[in-house]
Amino acid sequence: MAFDGHDLNDYLQSAINVAKAGGELIIETFYKEKSIETKSSSADLVTETDKAVEKLIFSTLKNKYPQHSFIGEESVSDGEAVEYTDNATWMVDPVDGTCNFVHSFPTVAVSIGLTINKQAVVGVVYNPILNEMYTAIKGGGAFLNNKPIKVSGQTELCKSLIIHELGSGREADKMEINRQNIHRVVQEGKVHGTRSMGSAALNMSFVARGAAEAYFEYGLHCWDYCAATIIVQEAGGCVRDPGGGEVDLMARRVIGGSSVKIVEDISKLLTPIEFERD
Ligand code: IPD
Ligand code: CA
Repeated sequence: MAFDGHDLNDYLQSAINVAKAGGELIIETFYKEKSIETKSSSADLVTETDKAVEKLIFSTLKNKYPQHSFIGEESVSDGEAVEYTDNATWMVDPVDGTCNFVHSFPTVAVSIGLTINKQAVVGVVYNPILNEMYTAIKGGGAFLNNKPIKVSGQTELCKSLIIHELGSGREADKMEINRQNIHRVVQEGKVHGTRSMGSAALNMSFVARGAAEAYFEYGLHCWDYCAATIIVQEAGGCVRDPGGGEVDLMARRVIGGSSVKIVEDISKLLTPIEFERD
């Protein structure tokens, strides 16, 4: 599919190929002992595999698309600036769910998104352990292992399963607002239940496949939700800024849901948690 002179199918195929190659590295090390370092908090982890997968993805895509821009979790951790412009920009999380990876808990994903004119247009979320590959390009629908997927379409909060996360920050005031938000959604929304899979990209992909009605989180980063944003949108779902308006990939907050109604009803119950923008 052409988009502003870009060949989105070509970009998608490249992202799928390199996600599979990165996935091989994750599979190789998944059940082995890992060398673990901490980043912004005691729960914000990185391993050699995260770094190796990002290196592989960056070198492959930079070689193929030298004019494009790149933002990756581990490069930013190493001090690279986030440069987000209208240029075609790849947003890469080599291992989304690093804490899961460390514990050999099998919800981990390679997440590769592409924005053009600050809009998510290509998304690949690949769980190599469970062999589940979610893909989407703008206007082309969303797929799980090449089969089309759709959101549930549910509009009633009291019939919904909601995904949220604690996140990896451990600041007491932020955690308390998060706790109250979750409590309010459960109590006032009378939802069926809540879940947390430890991977923002997979949480959103579960909304896309119709397995849950919504996911929200404050404090995550653009590489956690860029790819899954287009996957949810192409599955017929709604992705927004929880403060209202369009999703903002630099805002470090997102809500995705099976319908506009669910997203709006949950957003009304949320107190914002402030984070510095990416
Ligand atoms: C984290 C996961 C987690 C979410 C955190 C993210 P990482 O990504 O997506 O589910 O709650 O906010 O940072 O660090 O495992 O790539
Ligand atoms: Ca990561």
